[in-house]
Amino acid sequence: MTLTDFEDAARSVLDAASWAYVAGGADTQLTVRANTDAFDQVWLRPRALGGSGAKPDTSVTLLGQRLQLPVLLAPTSPQRLLHEDAEIATARAAESAGTLSIVSTDSHHVFADVTGSVGSDSWFQLYAYRSRDDVAATIALAEEAGATAIVVTVDASYAARRISTRRAGFRTPAHVDFGNLRSLGVLTGEIPDGARIDRLPLTWDDLEWIRSRTDLPIVVKGVLRGEDAERCVGLGVEGVIVSNHGGRQLDGAVPSLIALEQVAAAISDRALVLLDGGVRSGVHVVKALALGADAVCIGRPYLWGLGLAGQQGVEAVLDLLRSEIEDTLLQLGADSVADIGADFAIRAR
Ligand code: FNR
Repeated sequence: MTLTDFEDAARSVLDAASWAYVAGGADTQLTVRANTDAFDQVWLRPRALGGSGAKPDTSVTLLGQRLQLPVLLAPTSPQRLLHEDAEIATARAAESAGTLSIVSTDSHHVFADVTGSVGSDSWFQLYAYRSRDDVAATIALAEEAGATAIVVTVDASYAARRISTRRAGFRTPAHVDFGNLRSLGVLTGEIPDGARIDRLPLTWDDLEWIRSRTDLPIVVKGVLRGEDAERCVGLGVEGVIVSNHGGRQLDGAVPSLIALEQVAAAISDRALVLLDGGVRSGVHVVKALALGADAVCIGRPYLWGLGLAGQQGVEAVLDLLRSEIEDTLLQLGADSVADIGADFAIRAR
């Protein structure tokens, strides 16, 4: 009945180390908790006698791509930890819900196999490994596979202090691979035991260079300041994801929902603003929309579904969110996601 039901069920079927990897964040996990708690500081303002009573329209258009749901599937890896069909199951579930998945550079399946398994759009999430040549090759991989946008993650250049994951003794199991990294030659031989492959510490120069390498729309993931969002847009980037990586990188980083308003005020008239981190219900989705997001991404919630029942599990998570969003819009007196503006929310004082 709720996404937390999926969480409880997934916890009970996964081994403890895999659970710790998925659920965990950096250090004390303050930001993991605060991402969700931040939604409790925002109240919705129903419109009296508003809405026509018809089934609300939950569709959105992002970068010219029409989606049936203002919820995208955030890039995560390794999904093979949760289900053997990994990113292919996720992409198929996204397609059947009328939304899209963002496929990680670190995916198990090579990107072309994921895009080839669906008829709908997929975005590709870029991690920068080794050298600019390898980054150029990674972008080419995404372009050849038919990605319709590149998501550049800028908050995970350095390894994080994932204490709970380390304490649980997490090691990448042998059945998990990294297809894109193999085809790029970044990974050869044995899979690293929990230790990660070093990434390039990205700079603004690198972002400008990445911009010059592709005509695909670019969305920068991991922006928490309005001035950084402005700078992204100044470089010709089409959008940002307000994100702290689900609390997995910097413990104490500002909750995404708190950072959202400043970022939206800075760029939402010119660029796409997405949010991820802590979204656990349709009410949360609508609160984020009211505070300026064009749509949200979810990470852990769909991984719970994936771990429970593969594609069907992810579909069940998306179906629940769709019906919660519809109910929330009805209760608010709104006919559509497009109706939701700043007047629908107020911050607790
Ligand atoms: C992630 N995230 C992530 N981000 C990214 O850009 N590339 C990646 O490969 C991964 N991998 C990854 C694995 C796992 C297990 C998790 C939980 C998260 C971060 C992800 O895209 C997103 O920012 C958060 O998951 C959003 O927070 P919630 O929805 O999990 O609270």
